[in-house]
Amino acid sequence: MTGPLISLADVSLVFDGNVGALNHISLDIAKGETVGLVGESGSGKTTLCRVLVGLAEATAGTVAIEGRPLDALIAADPLAFRRKVQLLLQDAVASLSPRMRIGRLLEEPLAIHGMDLLAGRRRIADLLQRLGLPQGVLDKYPHQVSGGQARRVAILRALMLGPSIIVADEPTAGLDVSVQGDLINLLVELRGDLGLTYLIVSHNLNVIRRIADRTVVMYLGQIVEAAPTTALFSGPAHPYSAALLSTNPAIDPRRRRTRIVLEGEIPSVVSPPPGCRFHTRCPIAAARCRAEEPQLRPLPDGRQVRCHFPLTEPEGAAAFAAAAQRHANVPADRPRPLA
Ligand SMILES: Nc1ncnc2c1ncn2[C@@H]1O[C@H](COP(=O)(O)OP(=O)(O)OP(=O)(O)O)[C@@H](O)[C@H]1O
Ligand code: SF4
Ligand SMILES: [Mg+2]
Repeated sequence: MTGPLISLADVSLVFDGNVGALNHISLDIAKGETVGLVGESGSGKTTLCRVLVGLAEATAGTVAIEGRPLDALIAADPLAFRRKVQLLLQDAVASLSPRMRIGRLLEEPLAIHGMDLLAGRRRIADLLQRLGLPQGVLDKYPHQVSGGQARRVAILRALMLGPSIIVADEPTAGLDVSVQGDLINLLVELRGDLGLTYLIVSHNLNVIRRIADRTVVMYLGQIVEAAPTTALFSGPAHPYSAALLSTNPAIDPRRRRTRIVLEGEIPSVVSPPPGCRFHTRCPIAAARCRAEEPQLRPLPDGRQVRCHFPLTEPEGAAAFAAAAQRHANVPADRPRPLA
């Protein structure tokens, strides 16, 4: 296959009530790639995940897998589609029936997909081992396992039917830091062993930095930057990416001093600001930003950015340095609007 595994072209989604949760999203994901998705609450990350797994339908644009439109794939064989593309949720196990033992919960999809029970049980045994879960977990009820084990059970359930794409919406949220680290290592290992492709949403930028080959930053339903993860973390091009990264001093302690505190509320996607959607909070907004909406465009280093004055270019860099200077005296314990 030469084309991308997953391709979103100019995808928009408007909910009833005029909520434009996704606005002209274009994104290609290659087979075997891990794409991280970040952005403040309400930026559209979950909606994008739901579109990819067929739980929500784009109002405009096309979503394709291996070049075939998603709606055609689902119409042709809905079960095959569900086997191929799995959604992994934060509370997947907690939301399962509390009255069924985990073993039975895991066997349930086998019957739905008409798979042989014995072969299915062998697959479960193999995955238990791969995921470092004891056999005894099968006899337990969902509430009887630890948070970390529950997450592994959810991963097992997602992998049972041999998917090629895993869409994970905040898979490590709510776990202790060390457990999060173990889980990320596990996901990386599985990707190699099973040839998986991931789209992973996380508010934890350290998680994204560790696992994602490429990171996509969203703001108010739009992609504002898509860049190789190392490039983004060593030098964001979009002012919003820079602000998001600077809220996490652990990423680079030297950045502590140049942390950009975003002022103001996140605007509503029902009536986004005219021009650049970020202009009401951007530390370097200029007149052009209020009048003209920037398009997502490629930069010479291969990343894409939606900004008139990217920080990787002299004009944006100078304006941003001046803004950082103005913010330099902000005390470290000041509440961070982005955290
Ligand atoms: N079913 C729905 N009907 C109407 N509006 C919705 C619906 N689902 C989501 N929204 C709105 O769409 C926007 C995007 O929501 P979404 O859940 O995708 O954000 P998110 O980036 O996942 O946020 P979070 O980080 O809090 O999970 C929000 O303004 C949200 O209120
Ligand atoms: S276009 Fe203007 S307001 Fe928007 S992010 Fe770029 S500099 Fe800021
Ligand atoms: Mg979400």
